[in-house]
Amino acid sequence: MLEMSGHSIKMQYPSSTFQHLMALLTILHYPDKRLHKVAKPVAVVDDRIRKLVRDMAETMYDAPGVGLAATQIDVHERVVVMDVSEDKKDLMVLINPEIIARSDEQKTYEEGCLSVPGVYDEVERPAEVRVRALNLEGESFEFEADELLAVCIQHEIDHLNGKVFVQHLSMLKQTRLKARLRKEQRELERV
Ligand code: NI
Repeated sequence: MLEMSGHSIKMQYPSSTFQHLMALLTILHYPDKRLHKVAKPVAVVDDRIRKLVRDMAETMYDAPGVGLAATQIDVHERVVVMDVSEDKKDLMVLINPEIIARSDEQKTYEEGCLSVPGVYDEVERPAEVRVRALNLEGESFEFEADELLAVCIQHEIDHLNGKVFVQHLSMLKQTRLKARLRKEQRELERV
C-alpha cells in the first residue's frame, strides 16, 4: 500500500513525554471563511513546527479523525498529520506535501471531515498518487499511495489549498448543506 523511498515517515513518541507536551486545538467548522485561506509553505522545519505537529496529532487522535491539516486549526502553513492505520500507531507527518503524479484511474470514496461533522458524501479522485514532502527533520521523501491513504492525502492537501471536500459536491448539495449548517448554528446560538 505504501512504497517508501529512504526515509521513514512514521513518528513515535514515548507516551509519557508526549502527554506532557500536548495541547488540544480548536477545529474550524465549515462554512468558516478561514477554511478557504491558502496555506504558505513551511520555510524551516524547526521546534515550532515540531510542536505544531505534536499538537495537531493529539487533536486528530482526540477527535478522532484519520487526518488533519493545519488550515483546520487556523494555522495557514503547509503541515498535515494523518493516521489511516487500524491500531492508530502509524502517525504520518507531511510538511509542504505535493502530489507529483496521479493515476488516470479514478476512484469514488465516501469522505467525511472533522471540519464538517456528521456529513459524509462520495467524492471521485485519482485512485493512486505519488507524493513528495518533508519529514520532521526537514528531509525530502517520496512515496506512492492508494486506497484510503491516497484519498486522505488528496483531501488534506485540498485543505492546505483552501478547499473543503464538500466543494467537490454539486452546487445544489453545497447550497442545501450551507443552509442547513447555518440554521443549526442559529439554533445553537439561541440556546
Ligand atoms: Ni477534512
